[in-house]
Amino acid sequence: MKINQICLSVDDLPKKWYNITSDLPEPLPPPKEPETGPSRTEFLGRTMIHECLGLESSTDSWIPIPEEIRELYIQAGRPRPLYRARRLEKQLGLKKVRLYYKREDLSPTGSHKVNTALAQAYFAAKEGNTTLATETGAGQWGSALAYAARLMDLECIIFWVRTVYDWKTDRRTFMKLLDATVYASPSKETKIGRKILAENPNNPGSLGIAVSEGLEYASQHEGVVYSLGSVLNHVLIHQSIIGLETIEQFKLVDDNPDLIIGCLGGGSNFGGIALPFAGEVLQGKRECEFLAAQSEAAPNLVKGEYRYDFGDVAEQTPLLKMYTLGHRTELEPIKADGLRYHAAAPFISALRHHNMVRAVAYPADERAVFEAAKMFFQTEGWLAAPESSYAVKASIEEARKAEKAGVEKVICMNISGHGFLDIEAYREKLGIE
Ligand SMILES: Cc1ncc(COP(=O)(O)O)c(C=O)c1O
Repeated sequence: MKINQICLSVDDLPKKWYNITSDLPEPLPPPKEPETGPSRTEFLGRTMIHECLGLESSTDSWIPIPEEIRELYIQAGRPRPLYRARRLEKQLGLKKVRLYYKREDLSPTGSHKVNTALAQAYFAAKEGNTTLATETGAGQWGSALAYAARLMDLECIIFWVRTVYDWKTDRRTFMKLLDATVYASPSKETKIGRKILAENPNNPGSLGIAVSEGLEYASQHEGVVYSLGSVLNHVLIHQSIIGLETIEQFKLVDDNPDLIIGCLGGGSNFGGIALPFAGEVLQGKRECEFLAAQSEAAPNLVKGEYRYDFGDVAEQTPLLKMYTLGHRTELEPIKADGLRYHAAAPFISALRHHNMVRAVAYPADERAVFEAAKMFFQTEGWLAAPESSYAVKASIEEARKAEKAGVEKVICMNISGHGFLDIEAYREKLGIE
């Protein structure tokens, strides 16, 4: 019997998160204050979870995971399996290439986002806050935070990119089942939202705008802290649980990935699976390449410049050194809206700058990526989230390339989420009646 599922036991759940800061080829460019206006660092100090902000500048390589968070991870189904994609390999006629995928879709809310949501909600409650405010694009982060907030007895206020809020009615219900308050962004709840709506009542919204609204809301309301779902160092550190488990799983089957692939919007799932491997590459312990799959609607790593930029439209964050398309650039809406962010996380940008991360961007009509996800569904049996379908597409392309060149290769992709609440995207883009 060939078993394609590679599982860790609950006892194998990592006890520490990994922080790549000290292993980077050169020090991470620190956040900077812009030349004008109030201190953004002080603003974030008042608005965000202190434990998380502390991680932003930590140089400790290993961060102990509190027992309570490990319990929450187990409750949420961790460790998650790694699969060998034998049926997809067969469909592609692969002889030289082995394909694996990590199952972050097997999560209560449907994505990897719970890995940081649970940690952030835990620390927010411990610090005496009553409410979490946040942004969401695909709705996966909003759902994850709503779930984590409920478990921690916190309120949750979500600013959801309008263009997605409008079509994902089932995911909206999902968040409301968890008692979250959900606003379409730009909204009338904040000054920045009202200003943007006055300029253009039909503004489709963006993650940059939704971040601005969440930050402003948290700063104006007592007991409310802002919680970010991607980009910042602490988020990627929490997400390292993905890669740490994957390293152990590869040991169980005595195999080693040559190439890690993930989709990338702000960089949290890609960083989650890639950074623990990248750390070992930097320490000279392994060889491995990394490929980020993006949309041409937001090709921050492919076409962005490596420079200091704001993380949000209203310029409330400090300046971070990132590959960016510009925080004011309007990005075309796509169905995989979680990928529609103007910049890539500082950790990932630093690795890209050192040529350790390759990137590819697929056309914004999304047909090719959804066809790839359909093949994955029909062979492996799992329907990936629209965002994750970019990783599937890139993995199939890379596998075909290696096979054609006669090169033996092991590819591991991260399936960052499931697409059960995104069926409409598949229906529309693949023309299903
Ligand atoms: C399922 C899924 N994958 C990927 C992403 C992209 O975000 P990140 O680059 O932070 O992983 C999102 C964002 O919402 C998502 O919902």
